[in-house]
Amino acid sequence: MKVLGILGSPRVGGNSDVLLDRALAGAKAAGAEIEKIVLGHKKISGCLACEQCNETGICAIKDDMPEIHKKILEADAVIHSVPVYFWAMTAQMKAYLDRWCAFFDAEWRWHKTYYPKMKGKRIGLITVCGDPNVSTADPIVHSFKTTCQFTKLNWIGVVQASAGAKGEIAKNEAAKKEAYALGKKGATP
Ligand SMILES: Cc1cc2nc3c(=O)[nH]c(=O)nc-3n(C[C@H](O)[C@H](O)[C@H](O)COP(=O)(O)O)c2cc1C
Repeated sequence: MKVLGILGSPRVGGNSDVLLDRALAGAKAAGAEIEKIVLGHKKISGCLACEQCNETGICAIKDDMPEIHKKILEADAVIHSVPVYFWAMTAQMKAYLDRWCAFFDAEWRWHKTYYPKMKGKRIGLITVCGDPNVSTADPIVHSFKTTCQFTKLNWIGVVQASAGAKGEIAKNEAAKKEAYALGKKGATP
């Protein structure tokens, strides 16, 4: 059992990182092998819509994303954690998500090479926003949840929390508990 954590904040040790670490701790406690990828430490360009991947399943852009594609394919669950930037996900997370394009064919069905590995993969999400109203992050939830529904991935849920200063979320025991539970869920078939 492998659970992959994807951090979409450039702020390592920040709020979404703290919650992602809790989720991965939950996954580990449930027996999973865990790994975290900090998108801000990777070179990930925007999708070019060149459609080359529709045939080959291989992205034409030579950066760090193909290595991340491989890790997604190998994982049983992927838990994403991202702050709200201007009522949306961060640029790092959006570039990553757009590059999921490589997993699909021209009709937006899973590429035949990837379908067996993507089918039923568990996907979770953690959002953090400065606004005390956590629903400020709903557009990000919509993006991930709809992607899962559209592609029949297994949506395991979302943790939505509020915090501003770096690491402030560490005081929010309820959010940490929820993130831990989400990680456990990720590690549970
Ligand atoms: C460029 C930028 C834009 C932001 N835009 C919003 C926003 O639209 N709504 C909001 O509630 N918080 C916004 N925030 C606040 C962050 O979501 C908040 O500080 C969050 O805790 C950061 O998470 P992190 O520590 O994981 O990076 C913004 C922060 C930055 C740096």
